[in-house]
Order: sequence, then structure tokens, then C-alpha cells
Amino acid sequence: MTAAASASASASVPASAAEEAAMRRAISLAGTALGRTSPNPVVGCVLLDPGGVPISEGFHRGAGHMHAEIEALANAGVRARGATAVVTLEPCAHQGRTGPCADALLAAGIGRVVYAVPDPDPDAAGGADRLRAAGVSVQGGVLRAEAERGNELWLTAVRRGRPCVTWKFGGSLDGRSAAPDGTSRWITGPAARRDAHALRAAHDAVLVGSGTLDADDPHLGLRHEVEGRAPLRVVLDRTGSIRHDARVLDDAAPTLVAIGKGAVPPCVPGRHEVLELPVIDGALDLGALNGELYRRGLRSVLLEGGARLAASFAAHGLLDRIVGYVAPLLLGSRSRPVLDDFGAGTLGDGMRLHWDEARRVGEDVRLTLRTSPLPGESSPGEPS
Ligand SMILES: NC(=O)c1ccc[n+]([C@@H]2O[C@H](COP(=O)([O-])OP(=O)(O)OC[C@H]3O[C@@H](n4cnc5c(N)ncnc54)[C@H](OP(=O)(O)O)[C@@H]3O)[C@@H](O)[C@H]2O)c1
Repeated sequence: MTAAASASASASVPASAAEEAAMRRAISLAGTALGRTSPNPVVGCVLLDPGGVPISEGFHRGAGHMHAEIEALANAGVRARGATAVVTLEPCAHQGRTGPCADALLAAGIGRVVYAVPDPDPDAAGGADRLRAAGVSVQGGVLRAEAERGNELWLTAVRRGRPCVTWKFGGSLDGRSAAPDGTSRWITGPAARRDAHALRAAHDAVLVGSGTLDADDPHLGLRHEVEGRAPLRVVLDRTGSIRHDARVLDDAAPTLVAIGKGAVPPCVPGRHEVLELPVIDGALDLGALNGELYRRGLRSVLLEGGARLAASFAAHGLLDRIVGYVAPLLLGSRSRPVLDDFGAGTLGDGMRLHWDEARRVGEDVRLTLRTSPLPGESSPGEPS
């Protein structure tokens, strides 16, 4: 290709309606693998012929499987030559278990690449530049907000260098998680509980503190006919006092019991593991926990309680998302709050949140919020 031809090919050309429709399809394809791809992102890809008609599609099914672009290229065969690749994440430029997707797209003769989100992983980024340098027309940022939402857990984790933490709770309208006598089952209805199990399936780990362990003996596995990979169950048990018959130690999924350095390790069966963590001010070091989970390839954690542990995450600035199931119920001020004190002494210390979604789930309302806006979103108080 001449220099002039290369310059015109690599000039920015806005996405067409067909490319935007293909991006919506690619985002939806990517979402089908949510909860199964860590430490990799969810990615979807659609190939279009020069007339904008879909030729093939692919998505990433998990570490060790084909990247979305490679699957779409394989499905297209020779029809990929001159086609447009529409992909939710910037094609990678690095040699992992599979070769760089940017090189595979070039080798297949792809004429144009449209992607939504730049890759925040410094080891993998650079695919768009490599394609441009080779004369391919490249357009980034297409339907970025939608694609950011679809891959939010992974993107947040990679940007922060720790798993993305979602705090989930079920509470009364006045923010209570149990009545004064401790009864708490059930505050929310069956539809909300089923929805909460689907939320579990989208996360790599589910986490509770010893208070919840003692009070509820939770199982933390997938039920309610929710399909997917059961997340790693993690319990914070500083003193190592977990009962050997705790339900979380059954064989439905692996469990990690985090204890304080120096505590006598509990005896846990088979596939379960004990992890020693430093103790800071009488509590397990949450930064060390996050670091260890990230090192093991986990990119998302669902924090399921209780009020003390959630407050600890809030106080350390370690909450990223909140999903609250709010029941049409009042319990009054003698009841347990959903969140303990996290150090807010005055209104300005409160944690201002960013709305994502509010919707009815059976008798309850599911509220989804973020502690920081997604790239491109406005902050609270700013006109939208
Ligand atoms: N409605 C809901 O959505 C919901 C969800 C879950 C639980 N609950 C209810 O909440 C109650 C339990 O909540 P809880 O607040 O008493 O207990 P919790 O938050 O589950 O556990 C707190 C305990 O975890 C241990 N821990 C270790 N490291 C910690 C750290 N860095 N930060 C905070 N805690 C740490 C501490 O005990 P040690 O140091 O002694 O180990 C601490 O007392 C139960 O009644 C349960 O039914 C409600």
C-alpha cells in the first residue's frame, strides 16, 4: 500500500448504522460468558462484509479458549478478506496463550476494525495502533458506554489492580437487615433471592465475614436453578474458628478460609484452603486479601455481608458497585442496619453514589449503583 493510500485508510471514519448494530450484537454475545472468563475479559466480535451484512461472529469463552476475533475469523474463513471486524474491546497486541489478535486480523486481510473500549491492560494494549500502522481503517469508542457496562467488572479490576467489589444486600425500606431479635429470613421475596443467585454466578468470588458465618451458616453456592460456574467462596475468619460442619465447607464449590497470621489454622476438607492474612487494628487486611485474589486471577468479588464487613470495605474505599434489594418493609431503629459505621461524621463524609439502574424484582426493588462513574458518565450534581 502507498503512503497516501495508507493515510486515507487509517483516517477516522465514523461507525455506520450497520456497524453500531453489529456492536450491539457483539456486546450481547460477550455477555453470555460473564462470570466464566477471568482473568480474561468478556469480548464479542462480529464480522461484516463490505455491504454491512454480518458474515460471522464469535465470543471469548474463557482463558485457554479462542479470543473473540479469532473465533469470528475461523467462522468466516476466506470471507474475512476485506471484511470489517466489530469488536467490543480493542484487539490485543500481545502474545499470551494465543497470538496477538491484531496480527491475526491483518493476516486474514480485514479491511476495517471498529472497537468500543481501549484495552486498559498495558501488556495487551496497542492493537489499534498496530492495525492503523498497517493501513487498516480503525474506529475506536463506538458504543463505548454500553460496552463499558457489559465488561464493567473486568475493566474496573484491571484499572484498579484489584478485583472489582460489588456489595450486595437485602434490606427493609428503612435500611435494616434483621429485626431486633435477629430474625432476618426472609426480608426479600423469592424473585429477589433468585436474582441474587444469578448475580453470584456473574462473579468470581463471594465473600462473607465471620458474623454472617456464625449467624446464618450460609452455603454461598448457586441454587434456584441458576446455571453457571459457582464462584469461589471466601470467608473472613480471623480467629480460625469456623466449624468443621459449616455448610460453606461442603463440596459444591471451593472455599477459601482467610485467617489472621498466628491463628491456629482450622482443619478444612479436600478442595478447601486456608489463607493467612496480616491483621491490622484487629481486622484482616482487606488490601492483602484483594491482592491475593487478584494474583490468583479473580477479577470480581460479590460481598454478601454483613454490615461490619461492608463498612470496613467502605471505610477503605474498596467498594465499586452496590446492588441493594429493598423490600416493602419497615423494621425501625432497634433493628440491625444494613451498613455499620464507616466513619462518616458529617454530611460531607457521606458516600455519594452514582445511579446505574432501579427496577422491580417481584415484590422488591433492585437498586444498582457505583461509587465512581464509568468513563464518560457525569458525576452526581452535574447536569446529565
Ligand atoms: N440482609 C443482608 O443482606 C445480610 C447479608 C449478610 C449478613 N446479614 C446479617 O448480618 C449479620 C452479621 O453481620 P455482622 O456485621 O455481625 O458480621 P460480618 O460483617 O458478616 O462479619 C464481621 C466480622 O468479620 C470479621 N472480620 C475479619 N476481618 C474483617 C475486616 N477487615 N472488617 C470487618 N470484619 C472483619 C470480624 O470478626 P473476627 O475478627 O472475630 O473474625 C468481624 O466482626 C447477621 O445477622 C446476618 O444475618 C444480612
